[in-house]
Amino acid sequence: MKIVVIQGPNLNMLGHREQNIYGGMKLDDIHAQMENVAKQNNINIEFFQSNFEGEIIDRLQECLGDANGVIINPAAYTHTSVAIRDAISALNIPVIEVHISNIYRREEFRQKSLIAPVCSGQISGFGPFGYHLALVALMQILAEFEAIKRKSESEKK
Ligand code: DQA
Repeated sequence: MKIVVIQGPNLNMLGHREQNIYGGMKLDDIHAQMENVAKQNNINIEFFQSNFEGEIIDRLQECLGDANGVIINPAAYTHTSVAIRDAISALNIPVIEVHISNIYRREEFRQKSLIAPVCSGQISGFGPFGYHLALVALMQILAEFEAIKRKSESEKK
């Protein structure tokens, strides 16, 4: 099982940027916590951060046939990027959208996600803990997929 975590623009600045909104935790610390949980569950997890829209799209495309699920915080591209939405739409694996802040109680331009309609679910407003919630949710979805697959295979026999 492989999960890819994709982090959008300015998330490399966590721990420095607007701590009143995003908290004091650094991206590496969030990833270290996720890695621990993934390891305990025998999941291979990879992390990617980019400030460039095209690089995020390239990384999403690489997930095709390679990853079982994706966790993505598209950051500001959430509100603008039809291209990232299309790249997610083209994947046939579950994708979970994460926001550290509650985008629905912020400026009006942040309250619209172009990404949410093509994701399995969205987690918004729980701080860095949202990444943990996303990982647990994704592992649950993947376990259910596996159970369905195993059941249909055993029915074929
Ligand atoms: C964010 C919310 C976005 O509106 C913002 O542009 C970000 C971070 C969040 O995690 O709360 O960079 O995605």
